[in-house]
Amino acid sequence: MSIKKAVLPVAGFGTRFLPATKAIPKEMLPIIDKPLIEYAVEEAVSAGIEEIIFITSHTKIAIENHFDSNFELEEKLLNSGKDDFIPLINPEKFKNIRFTYVRQKSQRGLGDAIAHASHLINDSAFAVLLADDLIFSEKSCLKQLIDIHKNTSSSVIGINEVPESDVSKYGVIKAAEDSELKIIDIIEKPDISDAPSNLAVVGRYILESDIFNYLKRVEEDSSNEIQLTDAIKLMLYDKDVFGCKYIGTKFDCGTKKGFVAATLYKGLEDEQIKQEINKIIGKA
Ligand code: G1P
Repeated sequence: MSIKKAVLPVAGFGTRFLPATKAIPKEMLPIIDKPLIEYAVEEAVSAGIEEIIFITSHTKIAIENHFDSNFELEEKLLNSGKDDFIPLINPEKFKNIRFTYVRQKSQRGLGDAIAHASHLINDSAFAVLLADDLIFSEKSCLKQLIDIHKNTSSSVIGINEVPESDVSKYGVIKAAEDSELKIIDIIEKPDISDAPSNLAVVGRYILESDIFNYLKRVEEDSSNEIQLTDAIKLMLYDKDVFGCKYIGTKFDCGTKKGFVAATLYKGLEDEQIKQEINKIIGKA
């Protein structure tokens, strides 16, 4: 069965980017001229996803508007000879995509956010993308996971190697010795001393639908959150779960330094912006 639905949790407060995120969802902050969330949606759509399920909150209406049509603006652009812009605000590739929104009333963690999509998923495997993790790659990261899912019919998690000093920021896996990819343990944000490896979870998952049963069994952690990682850990007792060491360049746009780095990376792709960047950093 091919993967047709993707869940994108977007209900977080974006505290790290205040005051910018006081009235604007952090997912709407642009990398150059495109909101962060659109990169994740593009990645999903390019991997064959047909329905995007946003787990959202009352402060995130701008995301709904962004993926809706803006007839008035289109008319204005058309009537003022600026129709070149229309494909940017109404991209052909999104025309047949269904955008669905589910409100998460309180911030109870990633696992709780995913559980909010259970009634929309039925029995099929589905994708999860965390837009903060912006990944540039030739073959989309999600597609790389989907290809492993095709071969294994099991859940698959995006993995990358991180410096030991960073393990406490991520979910961290232990892989079976005979296979780099079969996961035998997973821990959410371990202390360096408890980390089973330096293989960190990135925000790309293909999950078999029985994850919802495991999520029901997960108890809140010390921050009163339901962690997806804890549900995956329970799943490991009964099911195979594989890691995908994807090929690509990842930016953690949930942090200021990752956000700026991603902006520079994209900026350097544009000759004019590149010249300005080079002037500032003294290479011109
Ligand atoms: C979440 C997951 C974590 C994963 C990370 C990837 O954490 O809980 O396991 O490593 O995404 O970005 P968050 O960044 O939401 O705290």
